[in-house]
Amino acid sequence: MTAITFMKTIDSLNFAGKRALVRVDFNVPLNDAFEVTDMTRINAALGTIKKILGDGGSVVLMSHLGRPKEGPADKYSLRHIVPAVSKALGVEVLFADDCIGAGAYAQSAALKPGQVLLLENLRFYKEEEKGDAAFAEKLSKHGDIYVNDAFGTAHRAHASTAVIAKFFDKSARCFGYVMAGEIGSIAKVLNQAEKPFTAIIGGAKVSDKILIIEQLMNKAGNILIGGGMAFTFVKAMGGNIGKSLCEDDRLETAKDLLDKAKARGVNLYIPVDAIIADQFSNDAAIKASDIRAIPDGWMGLDIGEKTVALYNEVIRQSKTILWNGPMGVFEMSHFENGTRQAADAIAEATKSGAYSLIGGGDSVAAINKYNLASQVSYVSTGGGALLEYIEQGTLPGVQAVEG
Ligand code: 3PG
Ligand code: MG
Repeated sequence: MTAITFMKTIDSLNFAGKRALVRVDFNVPLNDAFEVTDMTRINAALGTIKKILGDGGSVVLMSHLGRPKEGPADKYSLRHIVPAVSKALGVEVLFADDCIGAGAYAQSAALKPGQVLLLENLRFYKEEEKGDAAFAEKLSKHGDIYVNDAFGTAHRAHASTAVIAKFFDKSARCFGYVMAGEIGSIAKVLNQAEKPFTAIIGGAKVSDKILIIEQLMNKAGNILIGGGMAFTFVKAMGGNIGKSLCEDDRLETAKDLLDKAKARGVNLYIPVDAIIADQFSNDAAIKASDIRAIPDGWMGLDIGEKTVALYNEVIRQSKTILWNGPMGVFEMSHFENGTRQAADAIAEATKSGAYSLIGGGDSVAAINKYNLASQVSYVSTGGGALLEYIEQGTLPGVQAVEG
């Protein structure tokens, strides 16, 4: 893993009279009425926008929303989030219904200091995801200075994240506060971790988490496994998991990870018991079970009480904590105990002085569900980006600005 390089942020520039083109990650969840249901990413970007406006600059915001496949679609229009961004910022945000083209250029050129313009979804052009240089150059016309603050998208080598930087002079490109905060937080966990360092890794699939578990074995003394991926480990160890989630083609991988942990003296914890159900439903028949002896026809949907007690003990004694992925199907009330208790234990450890970083869509949703976001050290705005940064030590969106 490479060392974290010094990041050049917006603090090193004065934006007076300048137009800043800011790549944000406003890929936020919307409900059926197209209202924003989680403001985390928008709120996170406010500091960067306010600093630029405070200097006497103007801001052109660009982002993607969702994964539109066939060009423009109302469902994916960033127009829907204009009221939410305006309200959070306290400034009426203008909107351009295209991200390039004469109309959009006229709007960005007309911006006065203190004004903010949001461009339409970048992914309405397939060139964005292709990392097309000509498209990136067209986008670059919107600003004098390029600011990359889209941590959540920094693992994508797209036109607006990784390619556009080269159309700005090195002195006219930098990172925003979200990017600096995220990278600083990961650096604290990976490079300056006070011991014991515990990583809690959940989620459905072992295959998604192999690389991060391998990397974390170099850093963390304890790795607590939860969520659907636990059952692949249990089966690999010879347990009966009934009809629990399992990646049969990853049994060897799971065994390999267990061996590696042993060889390196890392405590890789696998759950010892589970809450099992006869169907994937909150209304299923439910009981507790040894995780190695789940009857046929039953599936594990949460970690059990013994595992909760064991994991809580480890978490409470930790001085550095990284949490990625829930312990069970916490969206259903009967299977949320493991995740809720992990969240509580992390908040408690944080109160006692531990540094805690929560990242990955589902664990962030969980920490918000239990109203504990303010009681942990850092809530990441990135899922895939966080994992990839830990796995690779850098991201395309970071390299481009520094390059
Ligand atoms: C995300 O929410 O994962 C980021 O905004 C990136 O979006 P993507 O996974 O569709 O590239
Ligand atoms: Mg994603």
